[in-house]
Amino acid sequence: MKTPYSAIADTLDHASGVVVVTGAGVSAESAIPTFRDTMTGLWAKFDPQTLATPEAFAADPETVTRWYDHRRLGCLAAEPNAGHTALAEIERRVTARGGSFTLLTQNVDGLHRRAGSVHVVELHGSVARWRCTATGREFEPGPDAFKTFPPPSPFEEGAVLRPCVVWFGEALPDVALDAAERALETCDLFLSIGTSSVVWPAAGFMHAASARGAPTVEINPEPTGISDDVTWSVRAKSGEALPAIVHLMACH
Ligand SMILES: NC(=O)c1ccc[n+]([C@@H]2O[C@H](COP(=O)([O-])OP(=O)(O)OC[C@H]3O[C@@H](n4cnc5c(N)ncnc54)[C@H](O)[C@@H]3O)[C@@H](O)[C@H]2O)c1
Repeated sequence: MKTPYSAIADTLDHASGVVVVTGAGVSAESAIPTFRDTMTGLWAKFDPQTLATPEAFAADPETVTRWYDHRRLGCLAAEPNAGHTALAEIERRVTARGGSFTLLTQNVDGLHRRAGSVHVVELHGSVARWRCTATGREFEPGPDAFKTFPPPSPFEEGAVLRPCVVWFGEALPDVALDAAERALETCDLFLSIGTSSVVWPAAGFMHAASARGAPTVEINPEPTGISDDVTWSVRAKSGEALPAIVHLMACH
């Protein structure tokens, strides 16, 4: 009998539409904390659900932008790990033989692109980009921390910058949702990696793929709400499981 790793590798070798959804767990091995682990040190007294909202930004823009600048600099200093690199390699192999590959990420850290993934949909935006609250124009700040909080907009006198991330209570960008929907329509293999699968709409993607008859995979060291419903539930770190799967793939 095939092990789950060789069955997944074999399915990847033959799938024509691969859709992957990732969450904060994929970046845990790059030392970027998951939401649960992010509130340490200076931030221990805060709850992310109360900082990552438009209401929090309206009430206390200084604290919210300080937190996001702290996270932005943490992401810039981090390096992609073996899990990110393996996903980029899987994309290269699937697309080289004419298949399609879409990486839907809930992460805002930019590490998938830095690892070489090409078809990445950032469902929740990016901490690397900030936008003017008055004009909506976007801006990618340099490697130094902002000097004042909230940072002043370079586009309009008196306006400020906010991070280009989707906060709790905000809608996901239409362009990201459309891309996810299109990819799921032709999906014949779905992988959910490093996500607790509680934040919608990403939490529903596995069920959409499964309803189409696509085999489904979860890679997560902990069980989640979808673990019992997937075809293969792999209880392992993504930085260990994904390179092992790539190693077993036949197509190069
Ligand atoms: N890196 C980032 O960009 C980042 C960091 C923190 C939070 N967030 C945001 O947090 C929200 C919460 O959803 P979520 O599901 O992405 O994160 P989450 O924090 O709710 O869940 C993370 C999941 O990853 C798993 N995990 C931990 N280490 C892992 C590893 N080495 N390999 C594989 N899985 C591992 C955990 O068991 C958990 O189920 C999202 O909206 C996301 O935008 C993003």
